[in-house]
Amino acid sequence: MVRVAVLPGDGIGPEVTACAVQVLRAVAPDLELAEYPFGGAAIDRCGEPFPEETRRGVAEAQAVLLGAVGGPAWDAVPRQLRPETGLLALRGALGVYANLRPARVYPGLEGLSPLKSERVTGVDVLIVRELLGGIYFDPDRRIGPDEAHNTMRYRRHEVLRVARIAYRAAQGRSGRLTSVDKANVLEVSEFWRREVSSLQAEFAGVSLSHEYVDSAAMRLASQPTRYDVILTGNLFGDILSDLAAVLPGSLGLMPSASLGDGTGLYEPVHGSAPDIAGQDLANPAAAILSAAMLLRHSLGRLAEAERVEAAVAATLPRARTADLGGRVGTQAFAAQVLSAL
Ligand code: NAD
Ligand code: IPM
Ligand code: MN
Repeated sequence: MVRVAVLPGDGIGPEVTACAVQVLRAVAPDLELAEYPFGGAAIDRCGEPFPEETRRGVAEAQAVLLGAVGGPAWDAVPRQLRPETGLLALRGALGVYANLRPARVYPGLEGLSPLKSERVTGVDVLIVRELLGGIYFDPDRRIGPDEAHNTMRYRRHEVLRVARIAYRAAQGRSGRLTSVDKANVLEVSEFWRREVSSLQAEFAGVSLSHEYVDSAAMRLASQPTRYDVILTGNLFGDILSDLAAVLPGSLGLMPSASLGDGTGLYEPVHGSAPDIAGQDLANPAAAILSAAMLLRHSLGRLAEAERVEAAVAATLPRARTADLGGRVGTQAFAAQVLSAL
């Protein structure tokens, strides 16, 4: 029996996760789906964002499907107990160091982007974000009355393991890999660049280039088709992947897969969207497409993954949620995906 742990979380998390679960049940009825408290919901129920019950549940699962965490209700809790801290702890516990965030513009859906259609035609970018290091995970972080600090540090093995994932992904695609850093200013980026370059000989057929994060941000919006695979660190990847959401048209179209050596974690790139939570307004496509990534990367069920992606692509032209300028609700969108399946 294959087990998937489901962590709906907060805000729109439970709404979009319910849709992804319906889709998983439809294409893979044999899966055992077990739900656990996580994030702010877990703080309210158990006093902590990543409780023992949930730790045990994810440890027994082959993959984890997550909605989103956080929201104004928990913004004032101590940092160690914040929902977001729980999410970082979950990523750490699973050892998922490589976060794959694809931004794809399906043929015929160029009009969903706020950018000019001719700019986004054919866009298919894969951002590979380092997820367990850098400035997010500084053991010496500190805030005092007069100063605070977080250090951006990368160790060789942390750079090499995620870089290998990106090189391999580029080999299976068009072979172009762009590493994004700030090596003109930061030693940590100079190191990142050197280590990424050191692997070039191992990956014949991949052409590696380097860009600074500021100009990469500009080019991602103005000439997105120049990119195939983008490899970058934790913080830059967080920012660039939200920016990349304007290519398909909405954060509601950005799924992700976080991979390490064991259990994979699958979650939309977006957050809990407190501004639209509880109103049936959220676009569940990112969550559904994250479930497709789960089928592909953790369960090896490629045909089912493709069926789900095709059903979403078939639904988008006729059913638009509010973020894409339409009036279709979360549940109605999911119902259309299910009937397309
Ligand atoms: P957000 O991603 O939640 O929302 C940003 C904007 O995008 C909002 O206007 C929202 O309505 C819209 N949006 C996001 N997802 C959407 C969807 N599926 N359909 C339609 N519209 C959508 O970012 P935020 O507002 O900065 O953060 C809200 C909370 O979420 C914060 O507590 C933050 O820490 C948390 N957060 C969690 C995650 C995660 O769990 N992985 C990711 C990002 C932010
Ligand atoms: C994301 C989110 C998280 C991150 C937060 C909520 C910890 O923004 O998944 O992109 O910064 O990684
Ligand atoms: Mn983010």
